[in-house]
Amino acid sequence: MELKAAEVLIAREQIAARVRVLAAEISRRYEGQSLTVIGILRGAVIFMADLVREISPSVNVVMEFMKAASYGSSTTSSGKVTISQGTGIAVKGRNILIVEDIVDTGLTLQHLRGYFKDEGAASVEVCVLLDKKERRVVDVPVEYTGFVIPDEFVVGYGMDYDQKMRNLPSIHTVRSVSE
Ligand code: XMP
Ligand code: MG
Repeated sequence: MELKAAEVLIAREQIAARVRVLAAEISRRYEGQSLTVIGILRGAVIFMADLVREISPSVNVVMEFMKAASYGSSTTSSGKVTISQGTGIAVKGRNILIVEDIVDTGLTLQHLRGYFKDEGAASVEVCVLLDKKERRVVDVPVEYTGFVIPDEFVVGYGMDYDQKMRNLPSIHTVRSVSE
């Protein structure tokens, strides 16, 4: 099956406005402190790039990246989550903000929160751009959420189908090319 981008679900201007609000909340929370922002590759890269530039300079931001893998099909995640590429940093004592594109079942974020807690982080919070709420399997805390969306596959603004369409500036649903 081949898919292409269908209609815009969330336009770039809407995303930009929401990112500013999230960054303002994060700035208030971490004012005068250090914050290690951890982007989950690769879907969160564009969101994180926009988010950190809206965070107040009074927050001492460090940017790191990691990769999580879950076994399952390409469009849904299954049970088992592993960290396939770590950050290499010493986590102990840091304020950690995990930045993720989508929370779906919640299994990925549950695993990552547990990892940073176990490593002795001073604090762990999560910021997601999109929340597919109706798909949640585990009740994982998410402190900052961009938009709640229906259970539809989305691409653009960092998110992909088969590694494609990450560069689209807005968030789109997808449709089959044969339609
Ligand atoms: P869980 O189920 O662990 O999974 O919360 C979250 C991960 O699933 C990916 N995901 C998507 N990626 N378009 C994407 O490009 C989607 O519609 C979509 N839904 C889930 C996402 O990468 C996230 O890390
Ligand atoms: Mg993906």
